[in-house]
Amino acid sequence: MAATTENLSDRKAATAGTRPFLWARLGSLLSILPLGVWTVNHLADNLGAFKGAEVWERQVTQYNSPISHVITLVVVLGPLVIHAAWGIQRLFSFRPNNVAYPFWGNLKYLVQRIAAVGVLLFIGAHLWLALLHPRLVEGHAEPFSDIASAMRHHWPTLVVYLLGTLGVAYHLANGVSTFSWMWGAVGGRRSLARFDIVAAVVFFVVLAMAWGVIYALYQAGAAFPPMGAET
Ligand code: HEM
Repeated sequence: MAATTENLSDRKAATAGTRPFLWARLGSLLSILPLGVWTVNHLADNLGAFKGAEVWERQVTQYNSPISHVITLVVVLGPLVIHAAWGIQRLFSFRPNNVAYPFWGNLKYLVQRIAAVGVLLFIGAHLWLALLHPRLVEGHAEPFSDIASAMRHHWPTLVVYLLGTLGVAYHLANGVSTFSWMWGAVGGRRSLARFDIVAAVVFFVVLAMAWGVIYALYQAGAAFPPMGAET
């Protein structure tokens, strides 16, 4: 009997320790695979904006079948919701102490959390405006002419995309370096500092892709009237 009670409390103690550990690992893993990889692929598809409406629509809003669209949504939005829940939980446990400890790592930690809030707001607005509103309210996927026109003639859209994707680039780049540390690919302060270079490359590549897309849409938007101006 005593052994059973001991085993039970052992198991309880073990799961109390492993559950947050597994939750942290799952949240971290999902942030890179599939979310990070998918984000880069999504931006690469959006770069089709340089080639015009037909290519952009084929790459961004068209799917081979409704099933492949549903699979994409599940594979992307499922991990996104889990990662957001994990991140929001971590945001509440966050106490900034940058004045007392003005270190580089501590500054990155603070900016990562500020970027996380911005990314959360950006993705919420983006999903509503680019995915849900066109498909559920207007009855069709977002047309190239609409997003290009909004980027050109509606400055809040332009500002939200510029700042939102800046936040995504920072959040993803910094996430790659904390991911590598958590999974043991980088150990010790020195190699972590060296990994800052990798993070900087990720940041500039993702930002260049995103702002490239925005630039292409802005340029193309000159050919379309402002939204709601058509007669
Ligand atoms: C400049 C850049 C971007 C443009 C022009 C853009 C455009 C779009 C469009 C038009 C859709 C709707 C696709 C459909 O109707 O099937 C979409 C969906 C989506 N976007 Fe973006 N996007 C951009 C950047 C981003 C970034 C940086 C993220 C960050 C995570 C993101 C996350 C998503 C997600 C999660 C979906 C829903 C999944 C899907 O429909 O495939 N987007 N985007």
